[in-house]
Amino acid sequence: MTIPMVDLKAQYQGLKQELDREVAAVLASGHFVLGPNVQALEQEAAAYCGVKHAITCASGTDALHLALRACGIGAGDEVITTPFTFIATAEAISYTGAKPVFVDIDPHTFNIDPGEVARAVTARTRAVLPVHLYGQPADLAPIAETCRRQGLRLVEDSAQSFGADYGGRKSGAFGDIGCFSFYPSKNLGAYGDGGMVVTDDDAMAQSVRILRDHGRTATYRHALVGYNSRLDEIQAAILRVKLKRIDEYNRLRRRNAHLYTERLLNTRVTPPAEDGKGMHVYHQYTIRSERRDAIQKALGAAHIASAVYYPVPLHQQEAYLRDAQGVKLPRAEAAAAQVLSLPMYPELTENQIEQICRTVLAA
Ligand SMILES: Cc1ncc(COP(=O)(O)O)c(C=O)c1O
Repeated sequence: MTIPMVDLKAQYQGLKQELDREVAAVLASGHFVLGPNVQALEQEAAAYCGVKHAITCASGTDALHLALRACGIGAGDEVITTPFTFIATAEAISYTGAKPVFVDIDPHTFNIDPGEVARAVTARTRAVLPVHLYGQPADLAPIAETCRRQGLRLVEDSAQSFGADYGGRKSGAFGDIGCFSFYPSKNLGAYGDGGMVVTDDDAMAQSVRILRDHGRTATYRHALVGYNSRLDEIQAAILRVKLKRIDEYNRLRRRNAHLYTERLLNTRVTPPAEDGKGMHVYHQYTIRSERRDAIQKALGAAHIASAVYYPVPLHQQEAYLRDAQGVKLPRAEAAAAQVLSLPMYPELTENQIEQICRTVLAA
């Protein structure tokens, strides 16, 4: 592809000297799992997110699973979530033994619809799990109000939205507990898998800390059956280098998004909408069109990458047909048929954006 979806090689070139030095220092230290870099990253990330505790783990999927476990969610419980997300959001619910209850989305932001959340609460509901899709926070205030009234936990899936904010709070810091992915292509990405949970709640933080490391409370003392979900020192060292630049990376993503939108506004395609309730950090720049497949074909012919996130909503995935029997969510289904994400990364140039838009509009 002449223009890829993300260009991790370009980002590496910009940071090469510092990254190589930090990785070499870890190799020389002989300390590879849950060491000083992990500890420092957790302090730096907690300060950045404005929370008391940040606990790293092995992936974003694990972050969600550990957070739900720390909320005490298990068999017989229901967790309300969006069908328009990566499957990991729902898998984490299923791992606990609880049932994901999918409700429809807002057709403008593609995020979970707070009115649908309120209507879906039953006697079994224990938590709500909104996803900040494409980097824009879901409308959390009315969801938090439902949670407060019904005694539910609010767990944020912030995998795609590191550094975004909602109502003056950083993504992940608004609800009871927030979950991040450091998968390489994420806004804050490692060079392998990684994840993190953030919370102000001391007991939940302690629970995640124990669960991620075999239920360990002291050397060879295990209070409960936990997991091996630890972050390694090489990933932590890399993430510390990138965390210092996250605001600049997100600023460039927003600049690129606004260049796209200037060019695509009032055309045959619908550019993404910012809801004005916080800051969108454009993990993806996602347009909407009934002619999506033709546009994607034209981009491919011009050697420009594009991707559909996500072509099949979770309530229609084979894995969830039993949990979501008879469920119809027309707004999520329509979005799945019409969305198209265009190349988005900080190093994307104005000329490349112009070339992409010209190809989109000529399709
Ligand atoms: C919305 C969402 N939730 C969860 C995950 C899972 O993260 P990971 O791949 O780090 O397990 C991802 C990313 O892949 C995601 O996009």
